[in-house]
Amino acid sequence: MAILVTGGAGYIGSHTTVELLATGHEVIILDDFSNSSPKVLDRLKTITGKNIAFYEGSILNKPFLNKIFKENNIEAVIHFAAFKAVGESVKEPLKYYHNNIVGTISLLEVMAENKVKNIVFSSSATVYGVNNISPLTEDMPTSATNPYGYTKVMMEQILNDVAFADKEWSVTNLRYFNPIGAHESGLIGEAPNGVPNNIMPYITQVAVGKLQELSIFGDDYDTPDGTGVRDYIHVIDLAKGHVLALKDNLATTGSHVYNLGAGQGYSVLDLVKTFEKENNVTIPYTIKPRRAGDIATCYANSNKAKEVLGWTAQKTLADMVRDSWRWQSQNPNGYEE
Ligand code: UFG
Repeated sequence: MAILVTGGAGYIGSHTTVELLATGHEVIILDDFSNSSPKVLDRLKTITGKNIAFYEGSILNKPFLNKIFKENNIEAVIHFAAFKAVGESVKEPLKYYHNNIVGTISLLEVMAENKVKNIVFSSSATVYGVNNISPLTEDMPTSATNPYGYTKVMMEQILNDVAFADKEWSVTNLRYFNPIGAHESGLIGEAPNGVPNNIMPYITQVAVGKLQELSIFGDDYDTPDGTGVRDYIHVIDLAKGHVLALKDNLATTGSHVYNLGAGQGYSVLDLVKTFEKENNVTIPYTIKPRRAGDIATCYANSNKAKEVLGWTAQKTLADMVRDSWRWQSQNPNGYEE
């Protein structure tokens, strides 16, 4: 029995594939390379020593999806494939709603037709919106401030409704906080297209000399040093969370939701200073105005994942910044030559 990983060539999907293979699962990757590289597949083979079945294409293509289910014995799907750039989603909302929402519906329809009713979904702490106070718990109301965020809120709702209507389904929504870090081999990591939106790839590209300096968006928040506080989580811890969530998903039915965060907030300046100290590099920065849509503080209460899944984040902020830097310094241009 195999696990279909949609978006398996992406940042979180590739790391999750490593952990699935390490725990004895068979993996089939589906990816359209819209935000990833075919080179990831070679790197995964080097890390795991295994050949991984791969299909290139989109979750929007139902006949193609059907073929994958007919050709393989799939027991569950881990669904990462989605667009994820907040700013782009504001400019091109239909692109986001089409790919993320229609794509998820297409996947669920083909799963149901093939009687595969177990799915673990890549959701985000973005669904907590701007009004909930950290530490965030799974029972808080969800909302969003941009089309990307709304696609996550809606996809969770669609999955919950499907599980409510047909009691054979098991759906698990995993709300990620801020994944950073990389596999310790330095062979796979985060490789955004163009100028990074997120802080860690921005820092590593400054460190490697591709970008001149970091802009810190605001130092007048109500936080200990005035800069934004986030719950950074090592991508390998996150990947391990998927393996445990999958085990729970396969053993149960109904809807499940878990925060996957370290449960600890660090400021932008904490992150920059830790990066500099651990890696012995300097990150020049200037303080800029706040970025639209940002909140002061966002971190998880991860007790539920601990109690039900037996999962806690193990790696420290120092581990995260060292692994991010190893990846970027060994691959200054990401997966491009
Ligand atoms: N920041 C900077 N400079 C930058 C980029 C970010 O100072 O160049 C700051 C932000 O203001 C924020 C912190 O660094 O305080 C983290 O910002 P990121 O863009 O890395 O992450 P966000 O917390 O804004 O967003 C991330 C994901 C979203 C997801 C959200 C969920 O990118 O997809 O977490 O909480 F929805």
